[in-house]
Amino acid sequence: MSVSTLSQLDIQKIRDEFPVLDQKVNGKSLVYLDNAATSQKPKRVIEKLTEYYEGYNANIHRGIHTLAEKATKAYEDTREAAREFLGAEHVEEIIFTRGVTECINLVASCYGSLIHEGDEIIIAELEHHSNIVPWQMLCERKGALLKVIPVNDRGEIELETYKKLLSNKTKIVATNHASNSLGTINPIKEIIQLAHAHNAVVLIDGAQSAAHLPIDVKALDVDFYCLSSHKMYGPTGVGVLYGKKEWLEKMPPYMGGGEMIKDVTFEKTTYNDLPYKFEAGTPNIADVVAFAEAIAFVNELGKENIHRYEAELLSYATGKLSKIEGIKLIGTAREKVSVLSFVIEGIHHFDIGQMLDARGIAVRTGHHCTQPLMERFGIEGTVRASFAVYNTKEEIDSLAEGLTRIINFLKG
Ligand code: ALA
Repeated sequence: MSVSTLSQLDIQKIRDEFPVLDQKVNGKSLVYLDNAATSQKPKRVIEKLTEYYEGYNANIHRGIHTLAEKATKAYEDTREAAREFLGAEHVEEIIFTRGVTECINLVASCYGSLIHEGDEIIIAELEHHSNIVPWQMLCERKGALLKVIPVNDRGEIELETYKKLLSNKTKIVATNHASNSLGTINPIKEIIQLAHAHNAVVLIDGAQSAAHLPIDVKALDVDFYCLSSHKMYGPTGVGVLYGKKEWLEKMPPYMGGGEMIKDVTFEKTTYNDLPYKFEAGTPNIADVVAFAEAIAFVNELGKENIHRYEAELLSYATGKLSKIEGIKLIGTAREKVSVLSFVIEGIHHFDIGQMLDARGIAVRTGHHCTQPLMERFGIEGTVRASFAVYNTKEEIDSLAEGLTRIINFLKG
């Protein structure tokens, strides 16, 4: 059996694990191509949520009763699974948050307290707003300076300019592993090495890579790496911040409250050990517990297999859409995750999105929370199709056919 036949068979089996995919939308079979916004959830994740609520719902780390111990163990098991997933050395380097946005805000706020007037922070032109605004807020607070690495016409970071922006004033470099708007995979290993040569720390926004690319924080020697569960087949409301222990220990806590303390008096509070110092209040226990199933799902499929299959989908979709007259692809980097952004001259992206929806095809339209990047390409927004491991070539055929019909209808 050929590799592609094998993967085709596996994909059918994988699709059966996702109940939401099997439905009609506007009278047509759903074609879900908005995975960069959020991925769908396999049954095992949904069942784990029910198992938790029906079986051992309790607050964690506080109770000595059986349910509390069971819930605490399940929560901490996910932390260990996340540690292994990221290749981190220590489990206390794994902090649970609500998502990548909170991870970045946490680092900007807490590591940011070590920043001084005149220090410099470098980001790239292809960041999501969540990797721009927290740094702007920090710069405003501290009198630091934000510098931006431009991208070329393909949507790739200009490394030579990055090298010139780096100096002994650079304290933080923050960029994404893969761009949510264009799919560009950034050369993060090189970005990290160059930053470290100037003693700057590096934060990588892994929102668009965690479900698609292998990650090894130790091999990367990255200082902070962030991911969101909901973009990798897990529940919403769970993020993971990996941080090197030496930085997490130096950083003050993010929020004050229960759980993040050792002792509280009205005169003085001492903080808890890592990772609890950064997890004030009752966390999102159920969703963290279920997130372990999403990690197991990705691990069982294997990141290499996922990446190979999605690369096949991307290449097929790129070939198909490039042949449709009027479509212009935005973001043609040599290394990409499975994101395909495009515009059609003379037709607004919202109209295309709505007309595709009428055909049961879900895509995202707009600026994708990357307004500066849209400005770089002189556009307001794009139509974005983003693929996950359960998508098929037949679904891409439906997208291509839908687009051809829309163009013919509107341009007559
Ligand atoms: N960041 C998500 C996206 O790109 C919401 O759609």
